[in-house]
Amino acid sequence: MFHRVLTLGAGIAAGLLVANLAFAQAPPRGNAATGKTLYEGVGCFQCHGFAGQGGGAGPKLVDPVTPYEAFVVQLRTPRQVMPPYTARVLTDQQAADIYAHLLTIPKSPDAASIPMLRN
Ligand code: HEC
Repeated sequence: MFHRVLTLGAGIAAGLLVANLAFAQAPPRGNAATGKTLYEGVGCFQCHGFAGQGGGAGPKLVDPVTPYEAFVVQLRTPRQVMPPYTARVLTDQQAADIYAHLLTIPKSPDAASIPMLRN
C-alpha cells in the first residue's frame, strides 16, 4: 500500500515535471526572413528603426532582445503608446517570425573595440 502511494506520487511528480518543461518551452520556431518582411511591412521599423536600434518614437529592441513572453505581451497589450497588434493583425506564428528576425540582428560593437573612439 505504502509502496503504491509512493509510486503514484513519483508518477505525478514526473508528470508535473514534463508539463512544466512543455510550458517553459522556447518560443515557437520563427522564420527570420519572413519576420524581416513583416517588421518592415507592418511598420515596426517606423518607430524602432530598421535595425531595431530605436528612434524618436520607440525604444531599441535589440541588445538585448526582450524574452519572448514579454515580447508577445507588449505586442498584444502595449504598456503605453505603442499601437496594439492583435492576433488578427499578426498571428502567433508571425509574432515568432518577427522575434526570430530581431534575434538575427547583430549586436552593435563595444565602444572599446573601435580604435578611433579610444583616442
Ligand atoms: C507608433 C510607434 C510604434 C510602432 C509602429 C511599434 N512600436 Fe513597439 N514600442 C513603441 C513604444 C513607444 C514603446 C514603449 C512602450 C509602449 O509605449 O508601450 C514600444 C515598445 C516595444 C517593445 C518593448 C521594448 C522594451 O524594451 O521593453 C517591443 C518588444 C516592441 N515595441 C516591439 C514592436 C514590434 C515587433 C512592432 C511591430 C509589429 C512595434 N513594436 C511597432 C512604439 C512603436
